[in-house]
Amino acid sequence: MKTLILFSTRDGQTREIASFIASELKEQGVDADVMNLHRAETIDWSLYNKVVIGASIRYGHFHAALDAFVKKHHAELNALPGAFFSVNLVARKPEKRTPQTNNYTRKFLLHSLWRPDHCAVFAGALRYPRYRWYDRFMIRLIMKMTGGETDTRKEVVYTDWKQVAAFAREIARLSHNPRNG
Ligand SMILES: Cc1cc2nc3c(=O)[nH]c(=O)nc-3n(C[C@H](O)[C@H](O)[C@H](O)COP(=O)(O)O)c2cc1C
Repeated sequence: MKTLILFSTRDGQTREIASFIASELKEQGVDADVMNLHRAETIDWSLYNKVVIGASIRYGHFHAALDAFVKKHHAELNALPGAFFSVNLVARKPEKRTPQTNNYTRKFLLHSLWRPDHCAVFAGALRYPRYRWYDRFMIRLIMKMTGGETDTRKEVVYTDWKQVAAFAREIARLSHNPRNG
């Protein structure tokens, strides 16, 4: 049996985090498949004994595909021990890096039909040179208002990989889903 890691990304950081989790799990003898949630049309759930979903924020929202996926698969998701992680730039501030203090994550968990056993919030990446001019302009404005990096020549990765590694260790330990008795 394997762990299924699904990711929803726009610019690739959530995919990088998902792959990092998979390699951390492998080191602990846990096999994982990493899959793009936007392209996961058919999943053989019988292959998996744990599920992880990671998703990033853009302009205040997760991708609509996340809600659609959870709506479609909440029965399969709730039948397995599961973990969720969100990726955003608000979380570059440590006090906004928990499921309770990160509004995007708190709201998602509040309304989700899926009840993951474990959750984390990771700081994402700021990659000005890769953005289209409008996005670059908007992100710079937000960074200016919130005391962040405003040099548009820069790419900054805020992700705390030690935090991600600790999350992977939690996933490796996840084995019992209380909802299933
Ligand atoms: C156009 C755009 C809009 C964004 N909007 C938000 C936002 O509203 N709140 C936030 O915390 N981060 C925001 N971010 C930061 C992203 O969540 C961050 O860059 C993350 O690493 C993206 O992950 P991904 O590469 O997996 O899509 C935004 C980034 C971009 C490029």
